[in-house]
Amino acid sequence: MKKIALILGTRPECIKMAPVYFALKQSTKLVPVVISTGQHRQMLDQTLGVFGIKPEFDLNLMQPGQTLPELTSRVISATSAWFAEHKPAAVLVQGDTTTVLSSAISAFYNRIPIGHVEAGLRTGNMDSPFPEEMNRRLTTPLARWNFCPTETSKANLIREGIDATTCYVTGNSVVDALFYVRKNQSINGVSAKIVAERVGIPGAFAQEFLSETAKKPWILVTGHRRESFGGGFERICEAINRITQLHPEVGVLYPVHLNPQVQAPVNRILGSNPRVALVAPAAYEEFVWLMNRCTFLLSDSGGVQEEAPSLGKPVLVMRDTTERPEGVDAGTCRLVGTNPETILREADLLLNNPGEYQRRSSLKNPYGDGQTSEKIRQILEDSLS
Ligand code: UD1
Ligand code: UDP
Repeated sequence: MKKIALILGTRPECIKMAPVYFALKQSTKLVPVVISTGQHRQMLDQTLGVFGIKPEFDLNLMQPGQTLPELTSRVISATSAWFAEHKPAAVLVQGDTTTVLSSAISAFYNRIPIGHVEAGLRTGNMDSPFPEEMNRRLTTPLARWNFCPTETSKANLIREGIDATTCYVTGNSVVDALFYVRKNQSINGVSAKIVAERVGIPGAFAQEFLSETAKKPWILVTGHRRESFGGGFERICEAINRITQLHPEVGVLYPVHLNPQVQAPVNRILGSNPRVALVAPAAYEEFVWLMNRCTFLLSDSGGVQEEAPSLGKPVLVMRDTTERPEGVDAGTCRLVGTNPETILREADLLLNNPGEYQRRSSLKNPYGDGQTSEKIRQILEDSLS
């Protein structure tokens, strides 16, 4: 059995690699080994718990307020030592985080072939998202297998002169993850009250917006992009305050990312708004439940843009660029930047125009049929045997 090392650092990597891990566990030729860099601590542990995955090795690298250069060098050193000792037959990385680029560099230096899950996403702008656009571009030429979610992402790589024989269109394993939690989630049939308790949502908010009889609109918010730190986050929070002033019937639920650069402005600007519930990051199962229940999402997350078409929930994407044009083409996602006027106008449109809302909430599945992980397993088995 050949050993395949799956490297995980952050919440979204865990969500999208979990199904790949489960698929590889079914292999009779390959054996998956999960290595955590611990780039995220609480948010990664929370997500590993949802999928019941226990990493074989935890490099435990997160430091509060970590900088990109420090983290990069720690991940390169720690993963390299592990690769040199354990010599896996291949290393899989997912997405565009510091964990991804740094582990890919260290696998390359150790002459271990690399599979890049979710390859070929591009905005064409190195500053947006920062540093992810550069991370994924630099990972591409290091990879022996580029697992592209869509034909569009494969075409991006072909345009860059990447050898087509390294590119495989597999779909995005986020759809596999969504199917997994919807089938297995311990939350099926659980009441809104219990979900609210698990997430730490105040009882009054849960009663008004989440209970089985509640009819009022509410918005689910997430945000964490580095290019929005400072002014961007101040404007996003101002936009949320203005939405609740203009629409006093609307509630906002915001599980706040643990990055201190996010926590500080969000707590300062939104903490005293009675229509806004600020809570800790929700476990993936609960978050999927909440996505299904909300009226629409306001988010800068990559993963949310991919999940929303499958769930039929409109997303106002608080960014100027996206590497996920499929969700925009499907009509589910719309780029609104961080300008409060634009966010307010677009929120207003979804709240006041039922025809527009219906049009943008139809179910689409541009990221595959939930078979991505199986395809990746098959490709790796064929290549490595
Ligand atoms: C990282 C990724 C980003 C990804 C996001 C997913 C990079 C450069 N950024 O951004 O691409 O979209 O994760 O959420 O790789 N923290 C905690 N506990 C946690 C997680 C974070 O306290 O569980 C705090 C720490 O102070 C940490 C800081 O957040 O130093 C920043 O974490 P980091 O992983 O460097 O960046 P993110 O903004 O989370
Ligand atoms: N998510 C979650 N709990 C939350 C917020 C988000 O489980 O409180 C999930 C979400 O469904 C998506 C993923 O986390 O699958 C996105 O992570 P994030 O926005 O941190 O990173 P990105 O996708 O932008 O890299």
